[in-house]
Amino acid sequence: MRVRLFRLRTLRYITYVVLVMSVYLFWTLLWIEDTSESSNNLKVLNVPVVPKSRKVQDMTNRKSDPDINPALKTFNCRKLFDGDRVEKTRAKKYLAENRNFTQRTNLEMRTLTENCDRYKEIRGYHTKPMSSIEEGFPLAFNILFYKNVEQLERLLRTIYRPQNQYCIHIDKKTPESVIEIVQLLTDCFDNVFIASRLEIVVYASYTRLKADINCMEDHIENGYNWKYLINMAASEFPVMSNHQIVEILKSFNGANDIHEVFSTMDKNRFKKRYYTYIDLRENDGYMIHSNDLKEDPPHGLTITKGNAYNVFSIDFVKFALSNQKARDLLSWSADTYTPDEHYWATLNNLYSNPFLHTPGGCKAHPDKKPFFGRYIGWKDSNRCHSGHFVHNICIFGMNDLQTIKLRHEIIANKFDIEYDPIAYMCMEEWIRNKTINSEDLPNQNVYKKLDTFQN
Ligand SMILES: *[C@@H]1O[C@H](CO)[C@@H](O)[C@H](O)[C@H]1NC(C)=O
Ligand SMILES: *[C@@H]1O[C@H](CO)[C@@H](O)[C@H](O)[C@H]1NC(C)=O
Repeated sequence: MRVRLFRLRTLRYITYVVLVMSVYLFWTLLWIEDTSESSNNLKVLNVPVVPKSRKVQDMTNRKSDPDINPALKTFNCRKLFDGDRVEKTRAKKYLAENRNFTQRTNLEMRTLTENCDRYKEIRGYHTKPMSSIEEGFPLAFNILFYKNVEQLERLLRTIYRPQNQYCIHIDKKTPESVIEIVQLLTDCFDNVFIASRLEIVVYASYTRLKADINCMEDHIENGYNWKYLINMAASEFPVMSNHQIVEILKSFNGANDIHEVFSTMDKNRFKKRYYTYIDLRENDGYMIHSNDLKEDPPHGLTITKGNAYNVFSIDFVKFALSNQKARDLLSWSADTYTPDEHYWATLNNLYSNPFLHTPGGCKAHPDKKPFFGRYIGWKDSNRCHSGHFVHNICIFGMNDLQTIKLRHEIIANKFDIEYDPIAYMCMEEWIRNKTINSEDLPNQNVYKKLDTFQN
């Protein structure tokens, strides 16, 4: 009896010890496993960490891209274009409560462009010409880019067609990390490239004009047979689909659509010399308004004010780059104020400068000439329904959609995805719909007027 009891106790004791030991062993093993892993990590720390691509989630829900901010997709664009009061109130309330929209990070952009085919597919790029008319009428675009990569990518996604070609000029002030992302984007396309020469763009100086000229030279050198060139800022957005743009440009019949005005000409812009200084170490520059007198324009040219953004025929671009009088005007413009606003207009103004014989130039009085290239909400124009201005130019918002829908201009200037991500999303949806439905122009005849003013 006693012996049996003793045996039973021993058995219980041994079981207990074994249990404790195995738990201890288990933990020790885990711990060893753990340390081995962290010491491994220590060894590879100076190799760049490659983060695993994971599903991007916007924790704040305030990203400006509807693809990563589902809240934006709950707003009905068609209603907003129709000016629906209830929908507008709802959308405005959302914007008021969710300010400071952020964008995709550089890392997210990098992940997006890792696989080009997949990238084009998930972002919905049009990788085939949408019609034979468009295919037979290729376009060239300059896009002047400063800093917002996401907006650049979304613009490109809308205007991209395989038959066109796109030159992106990046302001040299732009951080290297941003330039790298744009490079990754352009590497996904044969017909999208970064300008071979980049300028440090100084506000109101010659460098801004030079940026466009650099891109034009690249477009000509590429040797493709594009018909027209459109220069844009990355902050602009089309009002027309590519198909509609082609219809408009065909109506021009070789005429340029370059803005010209006499009435608001400011002669002080070239009475004295404006010097531009570039600091190559800082990648920055500034302009000095000197008291040095400026000589008269070359060849007795009448300087004409206009817009920096226009629509140019290929023959005009070749003329602007190679004609001696045009080159002399360019050199003369180098120390004037905002030459981008008088260089193109002066060359196109055959009313005052008929001896230029500019291809596609305009013989009508500048103030009588229509301009289809841009819809711009200047501060004094009553066009701005958002009430938000930057440098006296309207940043369009959802209140402007109703008007924009009825405009006959090619491009609207300008938008900001962070200021009104809903308006931007709706512009994208609207142009996409017009593209997919192959919508024609509401009235093609208005565009034929330019042709009647040609030589
Ligand atoms: C675009 O087309 C879709 C599908 O037909 C439609 O639901 C949507 O309202 C359209 N958007 C606009 C802005 O017209
Ligand atoms: C938005 O950001 C600006 C500047 O970064 C800051 O001054 C402002 O307080 C922010 N507003 C909100 C509502 O977070």
